[in-house]
Amino acid sequence: MTATAIETRADHDAAGEKVFNDLIAQDMRIEPRDWMPADYRKSLTRQISQHAHSEIIGMQPEANWITRAPSLKRKAVLMAKVQDEAGHGLYLYSAAETLGTPRDQMTEDLIAGKARYSSIFNYPVLTWADIGAIGWLVDGAAICNQVPLCRASYGPYGRAMVRICKEESFHQRQGFEILLELANGTPEQRAMAQDAVNRWYAPSLMMFGPPDEDSPNSQKSMEWKIKRFSNDELRSRFVGMMVEQIKVLGLDLPDKDVRFDEESGRWEHGPLDWNEFKEVLAGRGPCNAQRMERRREAHEDGAWVRDAASAYAARQAAKHTTKAA
Ligand SMILES: [Fe+2]
Ligand SMILES: [Fe+2]
Repeated sequence: MTATAIETRADHDAAGEKVFNDLIAQDMRIEPRDWMPADYRKSLTRQISQHAHSEIIGMQPEANWITRAPSLKRKAVLMAKVQDEAGHGLYLYSAAETLGTPRDQMTEDLIAGKARYSSIFNYPVLTWADIGAIGWLVDGAAICNQVPLCRASYGPYGRAMVRICKEESFHQRQGFEILLELANGTPEQRAMAQDAVNRWYAPSLMMFGPPDEDSPNSQKSMEWKIKRFSNDELRSRFVGMMVEQIKVLGLDLPDKDVRFDEESGRWEHGPLDWNEFKEVLAGRGPCNAQRMERRREAHEDGAWVRDAASAYAARQAAKHTTKAA
């Protein structure tokens, strides 16, 4: 590169950075063709691809229960929900691709165990009531986390989140309704509902990520207006929502320390086991190996579909070239 070229590049970056900073300051959107800092691109690629992986891996614990759903209606509802999650994965992989990393690469990283996904999907789903607890707590936590992401500074991510959030609301309602029916059922069904809430409560609180003081990337993400609220703020909001909804269910939250702190204006909760969180994230949770094995199998089983789609696309492209000639 010549000295002039370097200068030109530096000028270009300086001008780009100014436009980027102005857009962020004015709360406007950054679009794929805009200049953006390399760290912004990297951080978003990581966040959006992890989010996409979570949607896809998250299909497994629930898909396992489609054949065991207790009625035709429940089966249809659960099937629709699991299909929605596949759709969420697709929107998000597409949004991540606009930042320059091809989807194949992201999938390879997941399959090779290099990429992360939400720790929550590494817990076992033991009873039908767990499907209710997942919808209510896990999709509920996802909504809390994701509604502010609809305003994320990166356009394709924010727009994908709008539709995702609408579908998540349906997911939460279906989970709540399963629990409500069980809570009003036989004593065994009620006990099953309470047991499921007991097991999924703490892992769902941990979905918001580590406490603010242990979350070094959050600050930058908030400056860039990707994230609008801190992990602890979102977690506190979620606890407040659950406190009201559990009353309607007539069940209990397995947390005696839940209280509203007037001074901070936040809901407080009992201690969480962050060592467990780290272990699960590091691949040593109860179902990590099983989830990854199933994902690899599904990828291999789907090879013929990808091959057929590529062959079809190549044939169509060849036809157009012949016509053009
Ligand atoms: Fe989802
Ligand atoms: Fe969902």
